[in-house]
Amino acid sequence: MRNILVISKESKELRSLFRSVRGNVNRNDSKQLGVSIETNTVNPLRFDIAFLDLDLIDWQKRLLELRHSLPVIAFSKADVHKAVAAMKLGATDFLEKPLKAEVLMQVIRSHKKRILDNEYGFDETIGTSTVMQEVFGLIKKAAVSESNVLITGESGTGKELVARAIHKWSPRKDKSFVIINCSAIPDTLLESELFGFEKGAFTGANYTKKGLLEIADRGTVFFDEVGDVSPLFQTKILRVIQEGEILRIGGTHTITVDVRIIAATNKNLGIATKKGFIRDDLYYRINVINIHLPPLRNRMEDIPVLVAHFIKKHTRKRKDLLIKGISDEAMNVLVNYAYPGNIRELENIIEHAISFANSQKILPVDLPAHLQRTPSQKVSPSLKLKETLKSVEKELIWAALQRSGGNITKAASELGIHRQQLQRKLKSVKIET
Ligand SMILES: Nc1ncnc2c1ncn2[C@@H]1O[C@H](COP(=O)(O)OP(=O)(O)OP(=O)(O)O)[C@@H](O)[C@H]1O
Ligand SMILES: [Mg+2]
Repeated sequence: MRNILVISKESKELRSLFRSVRGNVNRNDSKQLGVSIETNTVNPLRFDIAFLDLDLIDWQKRLLELRHSLPVIAFSKADVHKAVAAMKLGATDFLEKPLKAEVLMQVIRSHKKRILDNEYGFDETIGTSTVMQEVFGLIKKAAVSESNVLITGESGTGKELVARAIHKWSPRKDKSFVIINCSAIPDTLLESELFGFEKGAFTGANYTKKGLLEIADRGTVFFDEVGDVSPLFQTKILRVIQEGEILRIGGTHTITVDVRIIAATNKNLGIATKKGFIRDDLYYRINVINIHLPPLRNRMEDIPVLVAHFIKKHTRKRKDLLIKGISDEAMNVLVNYAYPGNIRELENIIEHAISFANSQKILPVDLPAHLQRTPSQKVSPSLKLKETLKSVEKELIWAALQRSGGNITKAASELGIHRQQLQRKLKSVKIET
């Protein structure tokens, strides 16, 4: 976290309090924390978190101005009504006056850890490219607003990850995040899945079942693959968005649901709408905030930080060896590949390399064979015959194991060798099963 904004008239007392807190937080940290105490409105984009004094007369107006740009922690004398009103208007948290150093430390620490502890991204979403910085800004903005969000991007660009980040950062964070995979629910099951049913509604309905939308009440619904929805599905979701009501099958009265909608698609919804596959009114309702995730090939500068992140994330899968990094040559292979499967593919490549590596650094031989054949790297002249054969062997074994779901007997039979022989080879090439 770089900067804290405090808006209050009690600047004198708060200045010394925040100064001591800052001193404490900074002592254990290389990233320095700044604090500005203001009485007037300032540009919130320069800050990472705001503390707003609700004893200011126009606190509502200020909260509304701030909450679109950053998390706002409200504070005032103990007053339940004010606290509830502030939370309703989008405050992330409420603290009672007099503010105490320990409580402030705790709040700042938790936000620090969750927002910007990762200097290479926002929470678990990594990226240093300018486009990703814009995406992080939009995530923050979407998190603090109640507007519906449409996330677009090719497969594997991080749409679900971003949707989760928005929920996690929104005031709805303590309620459910429900994923509805639009293309996986057939029309015949649609109503029972989305709206649920009452006991006795139809033969076999021996109990009352809540639908997914009711489960998501006061939380977030993630409509995944919204570009593939049937016309019936579209009509049903639209009603929920417009009316905020559902009716269980066999039910006699409607139930109000309060859900925030995030939708994702790898299709161009604008075109699908023009062609008549998606209803205009649905498109406009969900596309209030649009977050587009560019393909990885258009933000190759993110590759080194993503690689470091995935090595850290997956290194514990190797029990015998701690993989700490990657050689320059291997990185060179990675930055010369086009990634049709985007970040998901890069992550799989790193997982694969970790299971193959023989040293603490990932080398080009540890990367999947199809990467080695990219034009930049064709056949590496530095590879000796023995190493090359070993790497091809590893590759074939790994692929067979993937196909057999880790079943050694099946993989061995596919490779045309005995089970024991495969086990010996696994030991010699160090693949964990
Ligand atoms: N910026 C990122 N930083 C770290 N990990 C990422 C990033 N983007 C994606 N990932 C990882 O890549 C994988 C794929 O991401 P995700 O499932 O969110 O993609 P998607 O866009 O929903 O793909 P699909 O359209 O195929 O469903 C996940 O394991 C996710 O954690
Ligand atoms: Mg997805």
